[in-house]
Amino acid sequence: MEKGIRLTIEAEEEIKKSDVQEEIIQELINLNKLFICKEDVEGILHKKTTGTSAQIQVEVRQATFLPIAKEHAADINVMHTRDVTGKSRGRGELEDFVSYFRNRYEKLARLLRSNSKFASADLKDIKRYVNEKVRVIVTISDKRETQKGNTLFELEDLTGTFKAVVSSNKFSKEKEQVFEKSKEVLLDDVVAISGRVLEPYIIVDDIEWPDLPVLRERKLIEEDLAIAYISDLHFGSRYFLDHYLESFIDWLHGRGEERELASKVKYIVVAGDIVDGIGVYPNQEKELVVKDIYKQYQMFDDFLERIPDYISVIMAPGNHDAVRRGEPMPAIPKDLVKSEIVRVGNPSCVAIEGLKHLIYHGTSMDSLIAALPNASYNHPEKVMVEYLKRRHLSPIYGGNLIIPEKVDYFVIEDEPDVLHSGHVHKNGYALYRGTLVINSGTFQDRTEYQIKQGHVPTPGVVPVYEAKYGRLKSIDFKIS
Ligand SMILES: [Fe+2]
Ligand SMILES: [Fe+2]
Repeated sequence: MEKGIRLTIEAEEEIKKSDVQEEIIQELINLNKLFICKEDVEGILHKKTTGTSAQIQVEVRQATFLPIAKEHAADINVMHTRDVTGKSRGRGELEDFVSYFRNRYEKLARLLRSNSKFASADLKDIKRYVNEKVRVIVTISDKRETQKGNTLFELEDLTGTFKAVVSSNKFSKEKEQVFEKSKEVLLDDVVAISGRVLEPYIIVDDIEWPDLPVLRERKLIEEDLAIAYISDLHFGSRYFLDHYLESFIDWLHGRGEERELASKVKYIVVAGDIVDGIGVYPNQEKELVVKDIYKQYQMFDDFLERIPDYISVIMAPGNHDAVRRGEPMPAIPKDLVKSEIVRVGNPSCVAIEGLKHLIYHGTSMDSLIAALPNASYNHPEKVMVEYLKRRHLSPIYGGNLIIPEKVDYFVIEDEPDVLHSGHVHKNGYALYRGTLVINSGTFQDRTEYQIKQGHVPTPGVVPVYEAKYGRLKSIDFKIS
């Protein structure tokens, strides 16, 4: 950075001496975005203030941005068995659906079995337990309210079917609790139901989801590095906020506040909706400024080109990206995004510095928000906790388009250290039983559709995680 910058500041009112320092900084910001840190303004070499005009020469210290992250090699390990990329076999035939549901049931039933010391019964044997207490592990194939206001479940396992009733009669605290729980049960949920068999029903005493273990500590890492989480850039959309993304790029180069944190950023994880796409919804072309899909991805390549080369980028697709429409989705191919980055599917599991990241765009959040009594677009982190509780990323089958594969890639088989989603364009964070839950918002402005829906997004806010200390900071690029 050159020394001795000369500035002329003009103001509407008379400039006071005390205003000059602030004016200099503001002027430097206006003149040159490369230089905006107060601590870099060394001192005033020369100053002449006359009424509403001031001629100033300031000395500027050499910018000192020494990224810690540059000194470390990247440590990224993609868990390929948990990613559909390169191995999709689903053709949408009956046998694919059967093996998908069987695999889902078996994986979740294994978790539910390991959660309890009580043995579970098969539905084919249920009539042997009349008047006795049983625990069964079942898929909820139907749920409805009876005329008396009770909840009736149709149950199914790999051996048979049965019915279960949850009483709405709140004659004890326990009964009241189980009735509240029954409101949270979704179609296709795999749960353990405990209760007494009174033919033709099980009268339900308790409902359990597979969930995460209660006592689980958050995992931290050795290295003093940081991970930035972004999603829903929507390149090509007329609502894309390029100036917010510019600020983010500047920040990564050490220009702005929180430079120490910026110097630690070694990884950027992108959870889908890289581009706005084409033909994603009717009349979308009216909302596009770039109507060529290759050009939309070229904009993302240009962005990647401009971030520091020691930062590793891990990218998963979302429902706007140009891979297949149904989930699970394979990684975005090289003919679309040409840069050397780590491409993974949606969903996918990636260990970063040994921290297990579960990346899922979040398409199924729409159906969960519609079905769960207390869920809303304002708190995506709470919906993501529901994924963890159910150990499944797309609990309601058919809520969004699923392509049945031989295995169910949506089952959360092992406990993630970080669950990262986007899709709802709203930042939200939680710590749930040792898992850090992050929804990383968007770089797209509020759309007409969102205005109609009353949905208020939070663009330009990037969560950055210092995993050595377990510190998550939200950096707002609207104001920097
Ligand atoms: Fe999006
Ligand atoms: Fe999306």
